[in-house]
Amino acid sequence: GAPGLVDRFGRRATDLRVSLTDKCNLRCSYCMPPEGLPWLPSDRVLTDDEVIRLVTIAVERLGVTEVRFTGGEPLLRRGLVDILRAVTALRPRPETMLTTNGIGLERLAPTLAEAGLDRVNVSLDTLDRETFHQLAHRDRLDDTLAGLRAATAAGLTPVKINSVLLRGLNEHEAVGLAEFALAEGHELRFIEQMPLDAQHSWDRGEMVTATEILAALRTRWSLTPDPAHRGAAPAETWLVDGGPARIGVIASVTRPFCGACDRTRLTADGQVRNCLFATGETDLRGALRSGASDDEIAEIWRIAMWGKLAGHGIDDPSFLQPDRPMSAIGG
Ligand code: GTP
Ligand code: 5AD
Ligand code: SF4
Repeated sequence: GAPGLVDRFGRRATDLRVSLTDKCNLRCSYCMPPEGLPWLPSDRVLTDDEVIRLVTIAVERLGVTEVRFTGGEPLLRRGLVDILRAVTALRPRPETMLTTNGIGLERLAPTLAEAGLDRVNVSLDTLDRETFHQLAHRDRLDDTLAGLRAATAAGLTPVKINSVLLRGLNEHEAVGLAEFALAEGHELRFIEQMPLDAQHSWDRGEMVTATEILAALRTRWSLTPDPAHRGAAPAETWLVDGGPARIGVIASVTRPFCGACDRTRLTADGQVRNCLFATGETDLRGALRSGASDDEIAEIWRIAMWGKLAGHGIDDPSFLQPDRPMSAIGG
């Protein structure tokens, strides 16, 4: 068939990450300032129908087989369930996932499962209520925990947990979070903090590294390399005490995985980003709203991906943090 989303390094993007809103009900310090951010004006945010049209083009014409919805916080998007229903009705049916902070999942999990969502990843950085409040500037730990339970009960499994450890805040929680995840049957992944916060306060020297986290975990468990094929996954995983339980790290900074990347991204305002760290974007919203055909939009998307760089270049002296923060890109 027609060529998919290939780049000049021979990678092929089959995993689409769609940010449905830049808004969030938390203020995690590695992401947003406590006062929030100037949100996208609503006329620039894609409508539900526009999102569905672009995802349809990606699936039917560009070879996308997995669609992950992100934010900001995607559960804040009113049309989420309608979008999901439309996307899971596409043929070939893409795998659908959601990355969420879990707030609202307690109520929504059954509806999401019924709409065809396959699974969710939930962000949880601490099990201590006070630390949660300090880190996310909102007292919502119980909502996130209830969301985790509801997602599991609704069969949105495996429910994976994402944790970012911050120096001086929750850096001592690696073992505690892992005990919780193992007890509840979740795959936990520790994510190295990336330079994507709106405040530009990332400091490589302060970052809690994968090596440090693995050393902490090894004081308690034996970790052996997971024989399962990693593929393009950001997470490198280990079997805990021989398995089957697994634990992972997403070491974007110290062990980059760009060479195997299979991801393309769409922002809530209809821009394609060929990399989380891309410094430029390609406008699909404008094309869409000026009457472009599906073929024309597919071609613009292909060209956007062809220009994808080999890697994020965080270690290059000339590295520049993207001007959009994580909350507007979707992670
Ligand atoms: P699974 O298939 O469930 O393993 O999904 P995932 O780990 O790809 O998705 P998730 O949204 O849970 O992302 C976990 C972390 O990986 C987030 O911090 C993402 O920002 C990060 N991540 C995802 N894709 C990329 C990528 O292309 N590059 C980098 N550097 N980080 C990424
Ligand atoms: N560095 C690493 N991970 C981040 N996330 C948000 N901001 C950052 C950052 N600066 C995580 C969230 C969520 C996932 C989508 O990305 O905690 O789990
Ligand atoms: Fe919200 Fe996710 Fe950013 Fe936290 S990291 S403020 S949960 S968008």
